[in-house]
Amino acid sequence: MAWLGSERRHCSAFVAPRCTARTLNGVTDASALSQAADNRCMGRTTAIATPHNPLLGAPAESADQLLLSEVISALSYALDLTEGQPPGHCIRSCWIGFHLGQRIGLDTAELWDLYYTLLLKDAGCSSNAARLCELYGQDDRTTKRDFKWVDTDNKTQLAKFVLQHTGVRGQLADRLKRLLHLARHGHELATELVQTRCERGADIARRLGFGEAVAQGIHALDEHWDGRGKPYGLQGDAIPINARIALLSQVVDVFHSIGGRTAALNEVRARHATWFDPSLVDAFGTLSDNDELWRGLGDENIEQRVLALEPECRTRALDDDLLDDIAQAFGQVVDSKSPYTAGHSERVALYTDMIAKRMGIDAGRRRWLRRGALLHDLGKLGVSNSILDKNGALTDDEWTQVRLHPTYTEEILSRITPFRELARVAGAHHERLDGKGYPKALSARDLSIETRIITVSDIFDAITADRPYRGPIPVPEALEIMGRMVGGALDPVCYRALVECVNEVGDA
Ligand SMILES: [Fe+2]
Ligand SMILES: [Fe+2]
Repeated sequence: MAWLGSERRHCSAFVAPRCTARTLNGVTDASALSQAADNRCMGRTTAIATPHNPLLGAPAESADQLLLSEVISALSYALDLTEGQPPGHCIRSCWIGFHLGQRIGLDTAELWDLYYTLLLKDAGCSSNAARLCELYGQDDRTTKRDFKWVDTDNKTQLAKFVLQHTGVRGQLADRLKRLLHLARHGHELATELVQTRCERGADIARRLGFGEAVAQGIHALDEHWDGRGKPYGLQGDAIPINARIALLSQVVDVFHSIGGRTAALNEVRARHATWFDPSLVDAFGTLSDNDELWRGLGDENIEQRVLALEPECRTRALDDDLLDDIAQAFGQVVDSKSPYTAGHSERVALYTDMIAKRMGIDAGRRRWLRRGALLHDLGKLGVSNSILDKNGALTDDEWTQVRLHPTYTEEILSRITPFRELARVAGAHHERLDGKGYPKALSARDLSIETRIITVSDIFDAITADRPYRGPIPVPEALEIMGRMVGGALDPVCYRALVECVNEVGDA
């Protein structure tokens, strides 16, 4: 059963069935599992190798039409979701920071590194979401969004933030317990959260092939000029220039979004020589006289303007290997959001490829589809961990939030024009043949065979993976449950292919 990954919990021989199904819209029994394909957004896994086949039988979405900047800028919208920021935050930060980099005289190579530091600055943001949610006892996205408005050197602001965001929905005793915990261990907890985020973000940049200038820029994003930042308390010029620019740029965007130009300028000046490099504050003061900078921030086509900023001599066309790496990296960003989804996207991609191969789909199309499987839950970055990790029944409102995630996936992937077909395929993974799925209640005639394959893989992984409200289900039982879903939620041919794959591995 090696293909099921290194985790023995997936094999019936090692797993004691603990099928205590979650209450789903009032249904609380094991049969709920079969309906609960709806609830399949959480898991755990093993790494898989990336095939380096040529793009045989490639679909219209050929990789050679794409630039690295187009894909990274589009996917940065997924990072905005996790940070609770208005769409386009990373893009706008790039607009601001790139102009600042030009103003201080960075050369072309340095500007290129800065460009990707700014677009990927939040790449590690999903990795501390579950911990943040656990500590504060509320929506991680709200906590992250509101924390961006806080000057952490201002004790009054900090105390107000903690009081307003800690355990506000819970019982008084729980709230007091959390507040006490934060009061006693606030510094180390904050350091831990930032460290997790920055190390993860830097790691993702390295995996995508960026150099240390980008990785270190992301790694030091929360360091402050006066040495009071986190996680290492770097000071002054010891902080990489890309990190200093990225920090200032994100603060400008956050305050500009809520209070316009004056609010942004005031905040930059207020943090002169505390958070920010004084020379950058001065340079930004000069830059801010240029109305074009501010007009750009309000331009609905800012993404196109940011794409045009990339130094032309440095633009990089995507080959298929890099496109695979990007899909894998962003799949890992999704999987990092919750301990219950660790490895989910990679496993779904693995199962998808196996089923597709069994069904005779050619290597080029499988490679394309595997990217869709890796990115199918991208929109889950927009769902709070207070919902994803909840150990109990979801409310109607929480279900509404969960059901938005395929829409987010489709919207983000559709930003990349050659990805439009893949966006539709991935965005439909919670639809059903009988029209009872979501978000569009599509019917069988609207569901491509590729979507049906991802759906079978997704449900198989959801049922066999650990969940906050139950343990993993053994493979034979999972297949039995899924067998009852054939014709309603699942395509019979795709299901049969899955069973054959399982049997083949079992016989090996
Ligand atoms: Fe999924
Ligand atoms: Fe999903």
